Parts: sequence; C-alpha cells; structure tokens
Amino acid sequence: MGLCRFAFFSSSPLILFSSCSSFLGPRTVSISFPNYPLPSANFAHLPFLPKTHFVITKTNIPRAATASSSSSSSSMEAPPQGYRRNVGICLINYSKKIFAASRLDIPSAWQMPQGGIDEGEDPRNAAIRELREETGVNSAEIIAEAPYWLTYDFPPAVREKLNNQWGSDWKGQAQKWFLVKFTGKDEEINLLGDGTEKAEFGEWSWMSADQIVDLAVDFKKPVYKEVLAVFAPHLQ
Ligand SMILES: *[C@@H]1O[C@H](CO)[C@@H](O)[C@H](O)[C@H]1NC(C)=O
Repeated sequence: MGLCRFAFFSSSPLILFSSCSSFLGPRTVSISFPNYPLPSANFAHLPFLPKTHFVITKTNIPRAATASSSSSSSSMEAPPQGYRRNVGICLINYSKKIFAASRLDIPSAWQMPQGGIDEGEDPRNAAIRELREETGVNSAEIIAEAPYWLTYDFPPAVREKLNNQWGSDWKGQAQKWFLVKFTGKDEEINLLGDGTEKAEFGEWSWMSADQIVDLAVDFKKPVYKEVLAVFAPHLQ
C-alpha cells in the first residue's frame, strides 16, 4: 500500500508527478495527459507485493455454505461478509491498453469502471450494465473473469461518506473482476454513460497497467496490482 505519493498536480495540460517508492526502489514518474509521452511500460515487470503484504482477502467458503447460491457467477468462492458486492471492469482496446477515467469528485484519482451488483444479479450482467452506464460502451465482450473475489477496505473517511450515501455499514468492497475487450470505436465512449446514472468521470484515457496502478487511489492499488497480474496473460 501507499506506493506513491502525489507531490504535484496541475491542469492544462495535466501534469502529474508522483514519487513512488516500492521494492523496485524510489523512482519518479511524470505523466502528461492525454497524449502519454511515456515509453510503453512493460507489463511483465509490474511489481508484485510479496503475498504477506496483501491487504486482499481471498475467501475460501464452499459455495454450498453460502446463503445465496442462486447467483450464476462462475466463481467457486463466495464474497466475504460485510463487504459490498461489486464488479470491476478491465476494458482493453485492440492494442491491449486499458481504459481508465478520472473521478469528478477526486480529479487526481483514475480508476477502472466498477459498480455494485444488484440483488440477485449475475455478476457478468452487472459488469456489462455498469460499463454501459458509466462509459456508454455497448460494443464489448467478456474474455476472462478473475477466479476469486478481491476485497479492499475503505479508509475511515471514505467508509463514513459512502455508508451515509448508501445507508449501510460496509467495511469495503468485494469485487469480481472481468476482462472485457472493446470492439467499438473510441467515439462510442461517452462519460455521460447511457444517461441512466449521474456522471462519475471527467476524463478518460487508454493506459498501460503500470500507469493505472500509479494513478489509482492508494487504497485500491493492491487490488489493481492483483487483478492486472491475474489478467496479465491476456495483456501481452
Ligand atoms: C489503444 O490505445 C492506445 C493508447 O491510447 C492507442 O495508441 C491505440 O491506437 C489504441 N488501439 C486501438 C486499436 O484503438
């Protein structure tokens, strides 16, 4: 956790310096949007945290022991208790760059699309629905699914804000991730979505896996590293 500290952020053109220290050693990354001057990062070298440092919990509850076995998720595992069920969407273009968008409420935080799974909803359907609602994208095919749920805890302030909004008391989110191939043209992408939900994102870009991890909010970084490692065979 906490690999990167954003030291400076300015807009127009967006320039962001993040000084990152990981087990690869300290490094400074400078990124400018929307046309990245960065040499394309080699995904195979995405740093992995040692297992013992994972905040991620993988649950091992047999399906038969869970209350809702009606879900048609192909996962053999159930999400942990106390976490909001959510889908994450890793959308890639034909060049295997990954879709990320900046949050309207926190413009320095970029993320992959994600959203809650409705009661009784198949996670695959939720992924397709959330993608359409948040990005307007309809031309897409699911090509892989993470075999287990990945969870992250909300930092206290985020937990309070979101739970007030939702009228709930979730510790964090349990995410089922899907790798989705974009088969349309970039013009199809519309951050106003399909108009059914309030817009969440301000700008979008195709990024490398390293860029996505660098620009993610700290508490999501471990999940992002893990999911991008799970999908790595499809991203090369
Ligand atoms: C995928 O995104 C990258 C980065 O923006 C871009 O250079 C590439 O042309 C895109 N590929 C396709 C097929 O759209």
